[in-house]
Amino acid sequence: MPEQPTGTDYLHTVLDAPETAQEKALRPLSFADFSGQGKTVERLQVMVGAAKARGEALSHILLHGPPGLGKTTLAHILGHEMGSNVRITSGPVIEKAGDLAGLLTGLQEGDLLFIDEIHRIPKSVEEYLYSAMEDYRIDIMIDQGPNARSVRLSIPRFTLVGATTRTGLLTAPLRSRFTLQTRLDYYDRAILDKIVRRTCKLLDVEVDADGAREIAGRARGTPRIANNLVNFARDYAQQRAKGVITGPAASAALELLEIDAHGLDEMDKRILRLMAGNYKGGPVGLGTVAVAVGEEEHTLEEVHEPYLIQEGYIARTAQGRVLTPKAWELLGLKPGGQQGALF
Ligand SMILES: Nc1ncnc2c1ncn2[C@@H]1O[C@H](COP(=O)(O)OP(=O)(O)O)[C@@H](O)[C@H]1O
Ligand SMILES: [Mg+2]
Repeated sequence: MPEQPTGTDYLHTVLDAPETAQEKALRPLSFADFSGQGKTVERLQVMVGAAKARGEALSHILLHGPPGLGKTTLAHILGHEMGSNVRITSGPVIEKAGDLAGLLTGLQEGDLLFIDEIHRIPKSVEEYLYSAMEDYRIDIMIDQGPNARSVRLSIPRFTLVGATTRTGLLTAPLRSRFTLQTRLDYYDRAILDKIVRRTCKLLDVEVDADGAREIAGRARGTPRIANNLVNFARDYAQQRAKGVITGPAASAALELLEIDAHGLDEMDKRILRLMAGNYKGGPVGLGTVAVAVGEEEHTLEEVHEPYLIQEGYIARTAQGRVLTPKAWELLGLKPGGQQGALF
């Protein structure tokens, strides 16, 4: 029999899953429908307004930030607001220069090409993007040996929208070719509250003020998680609470998923307990923590650490990661005190 999923597994399933039809239905289609990310949205609106007024293609844009915050959604909104076709691909799919050339030459004037996980394009292919982005041409080698020659292909004026969770992995030459690089941040509770209500409405389930607040406060600042929690809470309410997502119903549903009152999951807490128990609160390197909790380093870096830092449980220092007083308080321990006793 498969093991019962833990809170951590739940989080991973949610953040890594391919898009479902339902997720698509929940996706806002215009800036007006997209809440939060005020600075990013304003920057994008300025660029869209100006490009439209000049009758030109939008310039290239890089969206970065943790998973589930709206990068793919914004790419679609940009296409929609510009009235452009959106072509979607992702870094790992583009293996060779030929793949990229095929993709680019198939575009039409004004198309928006969305490359998700753009940091995963092989470095050997990345260089071909430079001239495509800058001069709308690509020089590729055909044939080998004495017949080898370079062929120049021209590409229609297009807009590249790149998304990445790891902007640090992009090379400086690639980064510098984006007119705008903008970061998405975790959402605050008031905005998540609004998103939760919107989702409930679209899913046709009743939610009260306490129910919405409960879900918004425990969604790790992430709309994708909020939407999934609403889904589960809806099932829970239907089965156990007369179909209404009330405060107690939401709370019980989240309890069942092992998501605590602070929105932390099992892995978050394991990280904090490990840092307290084995390293007296740090400083400790991320790699060490990853091995000790049995999670991949990049997942810690993309999913867990940013949230723990944002919520003020962990701080980054030159020597490594350290626990903050808030974390010690959460664990119910004296700073630096305990060792080894927590496992
Ligand atoms: N600002 C927002 N308002 C409402 N829903 C949002 C917002 N941002 C994201 N979502 C929802 O969260 C889900 C995940 O967003 P997505 O764009 O796929 O995130 P990312 O590409 O950054 O991983 C989407 O299905 C969308 O419905
Ligand atoms: Mg995405």
